[in-house]
Amino acid sequence: MSNAFARRLQIDNPIFLAPMAGEAAKAPLVAAVSNAGGLGVLGAGYLSPEKLLATIAEIRSLTSRPFGVNLFVMEPGVRDPRGADEMARAMARYHAELGIEAPALPSHLEENYLQQIDAVLQAKVPVFSFTFGVPSASVIDALKGAGAFLMGTATTVDEAIDLEARGIDAVVAQGAEAGGHRGTYLSEDFNGAMIGIMALVPQVADAVHVPVVAAGGIADRRGVRAAFALGASAVSVGTAFLTTIESGVSDAYKLALTGPGSRKTGVTRVFSGRPARGVRNRFMEEMHEFESAAPMYPVTNALTRDMRRAAGQQGRAEFLSLWAGQAAPLSRNWSVAQLMEELREGLDPSVRASSPGAA
Ligand SMILES: Cc1cc2nc3c(=O)[nH]c(=O)nc-3n(C[C@H](O)[C@H](O)[C@H](O)COP(=O)(O)O)c2cc1C
Repeated sequence: MSNAFARRLQIDNPIFLAPMAGEAAKAPLVAAVSNAGGLGVLGAGYLSPEKLLATIAEIRSLTSRPFGVNLFVMEPGVRDPRGADEMARAMARYHAELGIEAPALPSHLEENYLQQIDAVLQAKVPVFSFTFGVPSASVIDALKGAGAFLMGTATTVDEAIDLEARGIDAVVAQGAEAGGHRGTYLSEDFNGAMIGIMALVPQVADAVHVPVVAAGGIADRRGVRAAFALGASAVSVGTAFLTTIESGVSDAYKLALTGPGSRKTGVTRVFSGRPARGVRNRFMEEMHEFESAAPMYPVTNALTRDMRRAAGQQGRAEFLSLWAGQAAPLSRNWSVAQLMEELREGLDPSVRASSPGAA
């Protein structure tokens, strides 16, 4: 083992903040991880190009170290709203409970991915990562031309091979344990792509020559040690960072992650239209019949947006998408530096920088 991968990224330790779009996508958390010697990655999928540029500028004001930006690969096109009316009718009772207007599909479904890419190119980010697909060859060339190191998300060995073949610099092997959306893109068979990192990481490491980043269920030194034993060159940790002091997520979300309910997570389509893992809650349970009927992402995501926003303001966790991985109960309310130190303890001494922030 060596820390060649960390050196290539010009970071101290090969520990990444997993990109997390939504509430957690804020500059202070990203910068705190980079400042602690890891790689902070901004989940920018829901940010407008202007907000994306402003957040990158804020990250740069908080750290001089490398960081990453992550986007959902969603080529612009016509979205299929079938099923939205039926779902809106079923959701009306929740809007009434929250005291907000009846649900309706907004005209603004999502941010424009190609405009987001333009912002990333303009900002010349050191690392660019992505999920839900692979950017086109011309976008890949442009990003490389702008000096970005590219990382793509794979949930199967086939996806890892595909990413390497398209010239991606590192593969994030996202295990079934992972919180948030599944990155699966080569097949519609999301169930078939639910492979735990114990099985996925060694197979991906055998199948590709580029560095493999393990993501899913890693929350302490034991997980880090295991991931490296399986053939990973870095780890990407999401859920465990959500409860840190620097994380900008709501108290209701933090409580749900550290409470006993977080022992039960599930993969659902009812919040966004795309399978994602989160703490089981009332909306997931009661809307179960829409698991297959919910319109495809991003339609359902747009349809549930008002409900989720109001629930956040009112501290009603039963209506929030509480994205979390299967190791959520290991989360603690402590600082990024403390969590980074815990994770660093799992690195082999040949990989670990001598002291946090040593480079
Ligand atoms: C709240 C949340 C939001 C996420 N958003 C994104 C995202 O925008 N882009 C992405 O590639 N992965 C996203 N993920 C997946 C993570 O990058 C990563 O795969 C996952 O957090 C790893 O599992 P863990 O949460 O058990 O550590 C998200 C995960 C969570 C928990």
